[in-house]
Amino acid sequence: MEIKAVVGDITEIQADALVVNLFEEVKQPGGATAAVDKALDGAVSQLIDQGEIKGKLGEVTLIHTLGKLPARIVATAGLGKKEEFNLDKVRRVTGDFSRLLRKSNCHSVATILHGAGTGSIEPQDSAEAITEGSLLGLYNFTRYKKPEYEEIAEMLVISDSSQLTAVSRGIGNGKIMAEATVIARDMVNEPANQMTPARMAEIAEETANKYDLEFKVLDSRDMEAMGMGALLGVASGSSQPPKLITLGYKGNPDSRNTAGFLGKGVTFDSGGISIKPSEGMGEMKDDMAGGAAVMAALAAIAHLKCKINITAIIPAVENLPSGNALKPGDILKAMNGKTIEIISTDAEGRLILADALSYAVKQSLSPLVDLATLTGACRVALGTGYSGLFSNNQRLANEIVKAANKTGEKMWQMPLPEEYKEQNKSLIADIKNTGNRYGGAITAALFLAEFIDDVPWAHIDIAGTASSNKESGYTVKGATGVGVRTLTELALSLAKQGGLV
Ligand code: BES
Ligand code: MN
Ligand code: ZN
Repeated sequence: MEIKAVVGDITEIQADALVVNLFEEVKQPGGATAAVDKALDGAVSQLIDQGEIKGKLGEVTLIHTLGKLPARIVATAGLGKKEEFNLDKVRRVTGDFSRLLRKSNCHSVATILHGAGTGSIEPQDSAEAITEGSLLGLYNFTRYKKPEYEEIAEMLVISDSSQLTAVSRGIGNGKIMAEATVIARDMVNEPANQMTPARMAEIAEETANKYDLEFKVLDSRDMEAMGMGALLGVASGSSQPPKLITLGYKGNPDSRNTAGFLGKGVTFDSGGISIKPSEGMGEMKDDMAGGAAVMAALAAIAHLKCKINITAIIPAVENLPSGNALKPGDILKAMNGKTIEIISTDAEGRLILADALSYAVKQSLSPLVDLATLTGACRVALGTGYSGLFSNNQRLANEIVKAANKTGEKMWQMPLPEEYKEQNKSLIADIKNTGNRYGGAITAALFLAEFIDDVPWAHIDIAGTASSNKESGYTVKGATGVGVRTLTELALSLAKQGGLV
């Protein structure tokens, strides 16, 4: 889909559909909506009077113009309560109306800048949100099945001539954000027989070539030499060779500081010998969503030419049972020398991240941010709307929450209580890989904290948010690509401040 800014009289725009909006409880439409209402001989105000249009968030009403306007359809998008309006609602509303208009066989859609009038949103931000909302809301994973509907070919964003540069810039940035998110969604939606650790490494290499990033991949021999026993332990049950993928972006060569973004890349998590129930096991192809997000974020960060240095580290493995597999009771030695008693082979994410974090610390990367579909417990605690955020550094946590508030990828900070460390104590090794029944997202985070020394670090548990089983706003069924936009926004913000201050 092509998205572009256009300047022109709203009632003369040539497109299959024209999108205007209104807030909840508005009885008399204003601005562009009023102009369209007039051209339609008061059809919009009549539908408001009759209670069909309420302006509720997510409500999209289609009015057929029958020749009164060049557009075949006028869509009124409800923006919800004015005092609750924000940028993410622009994304959501855009996702909703875009899908409805695609269903109605519209090939070209023109929309006003939602919220840029009385909604007090900057035109550039509105254009960026419209771009992200439409590209992500219309996303389809089409590799194995033809899409149900014809795609919308063009989205025209109507602006004043004075706003044209800002709107075009917003569209440009939104495209970069959305396209990177699509890279992550495509990787996560791909089944595990395709998206193997080796395939992830290939995609990383292609990304590196495209954006001139440093690319390095460690294979099991390198891992052995470096003492990555935890990562190798998880990999041992699968015939897919593990890969530790690194992508390096140098956007600020004058600085000696480099941040580390890490992502869990379990291409399939059967649970291993501690095998999961078969029902829903297929969902565990999503267990590399953190790794995909980190890779895609690096693409966006490089594309935006962010003034920052970042190394992405993705431990990629498959967790399967076999004659060579890791067993409960086994003891592994991680790269930093700590010994780990295996209680459950299904708590594999923390094992591969233990070595990846040690590797990051050894390279003096700081701050560190890891993204992982780590625990079912996090999904139980926060549901599917919030990712769990854990950090040993409040300034870093605040930066991440600030970035997440901008992108609409909601996060909730969770504690790292000293007294819960007790749960990870082992009788015969330095640490064990599971805690007891309660607080599982926290004990998993506390386990990771054993491998970061005192480096500023944040862990984001995306087990609840990495995929969706419903379609709403700019989220569609399947992978969400969560984290890509927030990590990119975080990089932009850290670059602006010259690091973590
Ligand atoms: N990949 C899973 C976590 C997960 C669960 C992600 C549901 C997405 C949806 C992780 O490797 C896992 O299996 N965790 C175990 C930990 C337990 C053995 C301590 C869990 O959550 O059950
Ligand atoms: Mn697991
Ligand atoms: Zn897992």
